[in-house]
Amino acid sequence: MKALVYKGPRQVAIENVPDARIEKPTDVLVKITTTNICGSDLHMYEGRTSVEEGKILGHENMGIVIEVGSAVERVKVGDRVCLPFNISCGFCENCERGLTGFCLIANPGNAGAAYGYAEMGPYSGGQAELLRVPYADFNCLVLPPDAEEKENDYVLLSDIFPTGYHATELAGMKAGDSVVVFGAGPVGLMAAYSAMIKGASKVIVVDHHKDRLALAEKIGAIPVDNTDESCVEQIMSLTDGQGADCGCECVGYQCHHHDGHEVPNLTMNNLVNAVRPTGGIGVVGVFNPEDPGAADELAKEGKLAFDFGTFFTKGQRIGTGQANVKAYNRNLMKLIHTGRAKPSMIISHELPLEQAVEGYANFDARKDGWTKVVLKAGK
Ligand SMILES: NC(=O)c1ccc[n+]([C@@H]2O[C@H](COP(=O)([O-])OP(=O)(O)OC[C@H]3O[C@@H](n4cnc5c(N)ncnc54)[C@H](O)[C@@H]3O)[C@@H](O)[C@H]2O)c1
Ligand SMILES: [Zn+2]
Ligand SMILES: [Zn+2]
Repeated sequence: MKALVYKGPRQVAIENVPDARIEKPTDVLVKITTTNICGSDLHMYEGRTSVEEGKILGHENMGIVIEVGSAVERVKVGDRVCLPFNISCGFCENCERGLTGFCLIANPGNAGAAYGYAEMGPYSGGQAELLRVPYADFNCLVLPPDAEEKENDYVLLSDIFPTGYHATELAGMKAGDSVVVFGAGPVGLMAAYSAMIKGASKVIVVDHHKDRLALAEKIGAIPVDNTDESCVEQIMSLTDGQGADCGCECVGYQCHHHDGHEVPNLTMNNLVNAVRPTGGIGVVGVFNPEDPGAADELAKEGKLAFDFGTFFTKGQRIGTGQANVKAYNRNLMKLIHTGRAKPSMIISHELPLEQAVEGYANFDARKDGWTKVVLKAGK
């Protein structure tokens, strides 16, 4: 099969690799129809993770089941399915509690597994023609009959729509709250969109990319251009000097000034200052325990100079981590099915899998207009 393979920093290639296949009776084999490039893939692409050469990338996958293992009971050949980026067993202590992003079985010795990702287990990604799906009865979200027609909406249930939603949940957001979102990338835009769906009174989105801020505005949010580093003042004046009721971090450890200079504590400390006393902060932007390529010594060891004194004095709360996609994907699917949500509005580019290399380069450059790339396989 053809697949996108990691070769080294800023080097990926489409190669012929052995076909994915059923390895355990609980697996299914999926013929990929759509697979996305994620901001998370860019951490690997830029050489800022430990991902090994030869890894097939891709954790935002959707396709058609073409073969089922002998122990699979629910999922059938022909089903159109969307796969959560997390691989989870369904029966460990964390999965039982709905915390499928922290499965204790799928990636032994660690909490959490995923397709095609550094430190997330031995699983190949879905930027390929075929994908092996473990614990398939638990992991497959079987889509309704409009699956093909709304493919670009449903494929976003694999990660960014539930992840954006998760950011608002981690922040403790309730109807009527004002919400500030740092980052107008795909995840930040989906956090803003989720906040709108949940009935926020005001959503503010901070970034320095005008094209992405324009999309935030289209979603109904107030864009804050932080090119001049005035975001905290702008947010305070938009919230009567109080700060937002809650905040979402949707950027992660490579957050930076508009000139590209990385400052690892920038978004976290801006959030502490821009969220009101007793407000909640939800962090879905990725932070790693180690980052040898970091700009400063602390960050190399995964540490931040965090404004803990202000955070404590303001009595704020913080929630972090990978999104438990399964906690949300079924209900968000229903919103898409009934026409109440159309997250595909943020997709800017639809390319054949064969052009994935071009997709990576342009999305990584955050080139004007390259907001979200979906790849079509088997066309
Ligand atoms: N927790 C999870 O489950 C999960 C899932 C998917 C993605 N992620 C992570 O979410 C983050 C965002 O992903 P994405 O796909 O939107 O990526 P992206 O890189 O396309 O978007 C990040 C955006 O943040 C902006 N930004 C950079 N520095 C900033 C700053 N100081 N202030 C405000 N905005 C700033 C960038 O301009 C960019 O538009 C990444 O770290 C990704 O790994 C986490
Ligand atoms: Zn992703
Ligand atoms: Zn589990």
